Amino acid sequence: MSEHKPRKSSEPKPPRAFGWMAEYADEHDLLVAARKVRDSGYTKTDAFTPFPVHGIDEALGIKPTILPFMVLCAGFTGLCTALLMQWWMNGVDYKYIISAKPFGLTPASIPVAFELTILFSAFTSFLGMIALNQLPKFSNPVFTNARFDRATDDRFFLYVNAADKYYNRESVKELLSGTHPDSLDEVLEDTTPSALPRGIVLTALLLVLAGLIPAMVILNMRASFSDLPRLHVFFDMDFQPKKKAQQPTTIFADARVMRPQVKGTVARGQLDEQDPFYLGYDPSKLSAMNGGQSVFYVATQPPQDGQPADAKPADAAAAPAEPAQKDATPAAPAAQAAGTPAPGAGLNLPWIDKLPIEATEENMKLGKTKFETFCSTCHGYAGYGDGLVHKRADALAQGYWLPPTSMHIDRVRKQPVGQIFHTITKGQGKMASYATVLTPKERWAVVLYVRALQLSRNASVEDVPVESRAQLEPSK
Ligand code: HEC
Repeated sequence: MSEHKPRKSSEPKPPRAFGWMAEYADEHDLLVAARKVRDSGYTKTDAFTPFPVHGIDEALGIKPTILPFMVLCAGFTGLCTALLMQWWMNGVDYKYIISAKPFGLTPASIPVAFELTILFSAFTSFLGMIALNQLPKFSNPVFTNARFDRATDDRFFLYVNAADKYYNRESVKELLSGTHPDSLDEVLEDTTPSALPRGIVLTALLLVLAGLIPAMVILNMRASFSDLPRLHVFFDMDFQPKKKAQQPTTIFADARVMRPQVKGTVARGQLDEQDPFYLGYDPSKLSAMNGGQSVFYVATQPPQDGQPADAKPADAAAAPAEPAQKDATPAAPAAQAAGTPAPGAGLNLPWIDKLPIEATEENMKLGKTKFETFCSTCHGYAGYGDGLVHKRADALAQGYWLPPTSMHIDRVRKQPVGQIFHTITKGQGKMASYATVLTPKERWAVVLYVRALQLSRNASVEDVPVESRAQLEPSK
């Protein structure tokens, strides 16, 4: 800001005076002067300092702000608004059950009440501060004095406004000179021309006009028709270097985009390992069982007359799958009447009967972890088929819920380990496959754990090692 002198130009009117401004070198002088001015009864005063000066409010006689009181009132209003609103909405106007909560005011109303209290308070303190300080103030007559620039640097200014009701030009000047200021100037009206420089006006005008261009372009496009593809302002991923199925390509000699399987690799889920470890049954015995047919999924094979339900595979496989099925149909009701076979017992494969992994503590822990992660939700931690999912579905009383099978029913207890492995791998009835989340080894570990669970509920004296039997207590 350049030093301003009243212009001795055509207009003879002298600039208006707004009061006196005294300059001090340190805050102590300022405080002394401010107290003196205050004690003389002036109230329309102000101080400008490079840093906050303690006690300046009191020295200038500024009353404490009412802002805290305003904020308190606003906060209270917010609290009442929130409580009233929630009581009305949820307790009277729209009684809607949410998570079984009672209607009206509950502890759940606290967050909203808290938030509105804070919201109202924050807005009041922000807007109240601005209003009480009469902000925004774009200009102040004190700016006309070039010395005033140092108010943000190392000088302290005291300003007595001419609007004060006791203001008298001469007596204020006398009072202030009595405080030994470094300088004492009358604050004068800014008489620099207020019109904006031409360059700025022209630039602003140009910018405004340029800002209309996009709107005009859009208007023009809406009003006209075109056969051209639409204008791509944002490309997003519309144009990618990619090929779609069945398109030709120049990258490969055979010009095919869809590539055959790479030799020596196996796609996910397509592992066709002919090993009991991956299957749960012995594929080499399969042909003997199903008469050489590669039909793995044989429907329920009811036992032949006089045979027990869990007949040895070799016996059951006496006939090829298809004829067995046909022949069996009439026999089925009779078999059912005899109490066998149970549903789900339909798969008849040369199951392996011995776990392909060791019953080590490590494997047992692995199986326990995986069982409790993936199976217990339905089958329950102890395997009784009473997991959380089951309880929830049961509580909903949906008629079509099929309870998860208990691991402790006779049928599952008698299943060979390979069959349980197969159930986990392929799923069974309503139960989905867990092959994608459990590796074959983890599946075997789960089978090991299921076996342990079964034993824990159904052990006989024979299961206890002979040398430990003495420790058993007789049943009461
Ligand atoms: C989403 C619930 C659910 C989960 C999780 C689940 N099961 Fe099942 N399971 C069932 C249901 C339901 C059945 C009965 C299926 C049927 O007969 O249609 C069943 C049946 C079974 C059977 C008996 C199969 C037969 O031969 O009848 C076994 C064994 C079994 N599950 C083991 C497991 C194991 C081990 C896991 C963990 C890897 C597991 N389940 C995870 C729901 C589940």
